[in-house]
Amino acid sequence: MKVLVTGGMGYIGSHTCIQMLAAGIEPIIVDNLCNSKLAVLDRIEALTKVRPAFYQGDIRDEAFLNQVFSEHEIQSVIHFAGLKAVGESVAKPLEYYDNNVNGSLVLMRAMRNAGVKSIVFSSSATVYGDPSSVPITEDSPVGETTNPYGRSKFMVESCLSDFYAAEQDWSITLLRYFNPVGAHPSGTLGEDPQGPPNNLMPFIAQVAVGRRDTLSVFGDDYPTPDGTGVRDYIHVMDLADGHVAALHKVAQQSGLHTFNLGTGNGTSVIQMIDAFVQASGQQIPYQICPRRPGDIAECWASTDKAEQQLGWKATRDVKQMAADTWHWQSNNPQGY
Ligand code: NAD
Ligand code: UD1
Repeated sequence: MKVLVTGGMGYIGSHTCIQMLAAGIEPIIVDNLCNSKLAVLDRIEALTKVRPAFYQGDIRDEAFLNQVFSEHEIQSVIHFAGLKAVGESVAKPLEYYDNNVNGSLVLMRAMRNAGVKSIVFSSSATVYGDPSSVPITEDSPVGETTNPYGRSKFMVESCLSDFYAAEQDWSITLLRYFNPVGAHPSGTLGEDPQGPPNNLMPFIAQVAVGRRDTLSVFGDDYPTPDGTGVRDYIHVMDLADGHVAALHKVAQQSGLHTFNLGTGNGTSVIQMIDAFVQASGQQIPYQICPRRPGDIAECWASTDKAEQQLGWKATRDVKQMAADTWHWQSNNPQGY
């Protein structure tokens, strides 16, 4: 099976390509490299002995996409390409809506031109906003998002579901990721944020490796067991396996399929720091700071639907997430 992977050079996309190749699925990668490096392709080749077809280009360029589709018998698309930094989305809403929403619409048009009717979309738990209860199931309310990034994910979900209502022979899969962390166990592929990391795990890793002095812990007065924010961190290799499961189980069946990809477990900021200290043997100096605007106290996924319908369950624990992140960061202190 050949699958077009938009954003396949990025953090989650690159790990997914590895797991696809291991499952005998051929990725065709499209990426404009706005947030990734060509070196990723060499790393994928070194790990798998396969150099996937790679096209450098933008998903908003319909003629470019038509050309890629014309060169391969593509059965499905996994759509990772997009911008993902919440703070930046507040400062640059036009860029975010153009890349994430317009980019997805152009991609859908190119798919329709090519007669490819199966798409797996990278959505986010951010579409649930501040949940009224946990664990969060797939039918929990969505749409109360607090920033342009989150709204762009919700808008694409809405566009895809309206599209499905009109074209019911398509297979549209919305995967709502919780908090992806970790790295490939080889230590050769991982997350490589440009500039100061926005997310907890890459920030901890950069403090541990000496690139940054201190971690700011955003709030210790939440109604959680230790007062710090609780999230459902999921190992990127488990997430990658979740995409392979979606390709096998639902991407060939028409329907609008929605799944949470999380572990079902909550971990606090302090617990994550402790896990990282254990895994790395490094100190992580931190200071308690005010809450970050827009943050919620806690969230974790209900995983029942993915287990039942995809036959997939995350298996890697927080210890493994910390160990693999440290392996990657210590081998690649400055990233790729
Ligand atoms: P990433 O930035 O590492 O990967 C995205 C890739 O898409 C990059 O390689 C980038 O160069 C490429 N890209 C961006 N705009 C493009 C365009 N217009 N045309 C072609 N390529 C383009 O991000 P990631 O962490 O791998 O996330 C992948 C997807 O998952 C994103 O859609 C993101 O919103 C979503 N997601 C990520 C997280 C997370 O915490 N990492 C959580 C939930 C959802
Ligand atoms: C963030 C995004 C969310 C996105 C998700 C992807 C915001 C407001 N939300 O969510 O849209 O889908 O990433 O993984 O950015 N923390 C610190 N210090 C730091 C960084 C984070 O204490 O330097 C805390 C946060 O307050 C939070 C936890 O760590 O309690 C996790 O934060 P983060 O990794 O940014 O993820 P989310 O806030 O869940």
